[in-house]
Amino acid sequence: MIGGGVIGLSVAWRAAAAGHDVTVVDPAPGRGASWVAGGMLAPVTEAWPGEEAGLHLGEESLRRWPSFAAELTADGGDPGLSMAGTVVAALDRGDADQLGVLAEYLASVGRAVESVTGRQLRALEPGVNAVRALLVPGDLAVDNRKLLRALHAAGVRRGVKFVDDEATGIEPGRVRTLAGEVPCDVVVIAAGARSGRLHPALAVRPLKGEILRLRARRTSLPPPSRTVRAVVEGRPVYLVPRADGELVLGATQYEAGFDETVSARGVRELLEGAERIFPSIDEYELVECAAGLRAASADTVPFVGELGDGLFAATGHHRNGLLMAPVTADAIVALLDGTAPPPHVEAANPHRLGEK
Ligand code: GLY
Repeated sequence: MIGGGVIGLSVAWRAAAAGHDVTVVDPAPGRGASWVAGGMLAPVTEAWPGEEAGLHLGEESLRRWPSFAAELTADGGDPGLSMAGTVVAALDRGDADQLGVLAEYLASVGRAVESVTGRQLRALEPGVNAVRALLVPGDLAVDNRKLLRALHAAGVRRGVKFVDDEATGIEPGRVRTLAGEVPCDVVVIAAGARSGRLHPALAVRPLKGEILRLRARRTSLPPPSRTVRAVVEGRPVYLVPRADGELVLGATQYEAGFDETVSARGVRELLEGAERIFPSIDEYELVECAAGLRAASADTVPFVGELGDGLFAATGHHRNGLLMAPVTADAIVALLDGTAPPPHVEAANPHRLGEK
């Protein structure tokens, strides 16, 4: 396994639990973009216009999340799955019209959704501004950092070995690393934004995201209980509450190569956006500013499947790595075992875009 983010750790844990002998090669397992992430499990409300191709796969993975979390809790620890649901808040009349489109789409895929007025929303979520909102109870969230710790522990418990080194190439029977090589029969590339360096079919580019972590002070309004999303000046903003009182505020999205520094502009945009949705955030303690690199594919659909003899891809998950971890892990284990992969995985065929 090359890569120890949420995808690599999930595949490693599931494959080891299925009886495979697994080694994860990553200089810093459990960190990277997965450590920075917001943790939304929200295939529909998280999709941007034009990103419809991956929706069915995302929905398939969302269905798998409760059992994935339950099994992980037993094997490695509680990943902090929140079932509180998501609110999509419209800040003006134009946004409110868009809510109708979203509500129709959610209903068409059999999802429960309720439209409420701004006043009704404030009764449920004090301090959240909206002229109208959609309650989407089925769009969930997970605490990304608890999840990563639990996956690591579960992997160790199932016998996964870790090589804290960077993979530089793949050759028959081994993975080359900066410090040496790791012998193997099969390789799974789950190296996120860096996967494209390892195979020409993996057209993955880094898509930077800055994200903030805040905490309510004793005298300030507590965070919303649900995930709250809105579009502010054309930019999506989300607030994801954690059980420990932290509030995650995300995220910018732009191309900046492999730059992982946090810009002042990114912080300003996020705070200005959040103030429009939840003005009390101004009083919060700013705990952390971080940036991560999403692994973006041209069509926003991941690459999950066989690349060649003994070589598999599990990467390119764009904005949806945490969401897609269960279905990706199940797909790779099915491929390793020669059983039927989950529905909709064919949309993620790693050869669909041709070679770079
Ligand atoms: N899934 C949240 C983000 O990519 O910002």
